Amino acid sequence: MRRTQVAIVGAGPSGLLLSQLLASQGVDSVVLERESPEHVQGRIRAGLLEWTTVELLQEAGIGARMMREGLVHDGFDVAFADGGHRIDLKGLSGRSMLVYGQNELQKDLIEARSAEPDTVLWQVHDVALHDIGTCAPRLTYAHADRRHELHCDFVAGCDGFHGVSRAAIPVEKLTQYERTYPFGWLGLLADVPPLHEELVYVHHERGFALCSMRSHGRSRYYVQCPLEDKIEHWPDSRFWDELHARLPERYARQLVSGPSFEKSIVPLRSFVTEPMHFGRLYLVGDAAHIVPPTGAKGLNLAAADVRVLAQGIVEFYRAGSPTLLEEYSARALGRVWKATRFSWWFTTLLHRFSADPFAERLQLAELEYLAGSAAAARSLAENYVGLSFD
Ligand code: APR
Ligand code: PHB
Repeated sequence: MRRTQVAIVGAGPSGLLLSQLLASQGVDSVVLERESPEHVQGRIRAGLLEWTTVELLQEAGIGARMMREGLVHDGFDVAFADGGHRIDLKGLSGRSMLVYGQNELQKDLIEARSAEPDTVLWQVHDVALHDIGTCAPRLTYAHADRRHELHCDFVAGCDGFHGVSRAAIPVEKLTQYERTYPFGWLGLLADVPPLHEELVYVHHERGFALCSMRSHGRSRYYVQCPLEDKIEHWPDSRFWDELHARLPERYARQLVSGPSFEKSIVPLRSFVTEPMHFGRLYLVGDAAHIVPPTGAKGLNLAAADVRVLAQGIVEFYRAGSPTLLEEYSARALGRVWKATRFSWWFTTLLHRFSADPFAERLQLAELEYLAGSAAAARSLAENYVGLSFD
């Protein structure tokens, strides 16, 4: 039997950042992860950080490489009707974004946590949560072919949408809200120079596209595709042709194609669980909420949850006060719902849902309004860079 203060299930960005932040405040934790470090840091996900996330990562002591290799972006383009319009994030909101791949961030977090041996247990199986409704929760799990038990004061469920933590809460104690979208995103990574120095979000009658990057020599592109599509339907040549067809001329002529080294299709979903807390179990990140990637909010929301939960746990040990912990769910959900609304709105504005010409006209009218109204552009900018904490 092992004992710790906080047991964390899942070593994704949520779990490792929480463990790192707690350690920097003198709070002990153990992280149980079913995959290997190579698998976890090899997962290709998004790569756009709000500045509040950048500051939290620096506070956690893992910002050095991120600031050296990350790309600061003060704006992005919205392309539609064969033209493009720049959203001046810095000018409209006073804040920038940082382009830094989530898998790079994962590497930094794994390296930082490995400084404390036996804090993260990899390739752990059969994690089960017990007595989460009491003041003495415990976890059982299998590791290195042996059964183990971990006693703790708190459990942080950082195990993503398909984890065991949310499932451990009696279903009648939870309310779950979900919206699925009738399309997916086909993403591609290639070592070719990006077609533009900033991101380009594309509205087109053939479907949405996004031109992003990881560095000045590595590009990340996405095209909206039918959910039932398979990767084998999309050889590189078809991807580049389709992307080119969706881009206004001024961007299309800048497009450099090349062999991809990663290609994947992801479904789009909006999902929120209420409350994000049951007994001594706290749900964090994708274990509690999912947003479509259009607004790049997934990782940033997870970091925001971690910030609020870490404050509550530190306050509990330092001042013996449970107040911030009792407020965790309400404070986190306030931000989650605003980001869920923004991600749904941005997805609805830029994607093709049907061949309905009226809907198409409404989208174009809203895009025209966005391009011509400082108020509308400011609203987009302040949501995109991340709303201030309450
Ligand atoms: N036992 C142990 N580990 C588990 C279990 C389990 N039963 N189930 C899941 N895990 C691990 C997964 O292997 C994964 O490494 O939990 C981790 C969850 O990580 P993420 O899914 O990345 O979730 P989170 O850390 O909340 O990060 C959210 O990542 O996926 C992006 O778009 C998402 O940007 C968002 C961010
Ligand atoms: C990415 O670079 O992968 C990315 C950027 C912005 C988004 C989504 C994904 O909105």
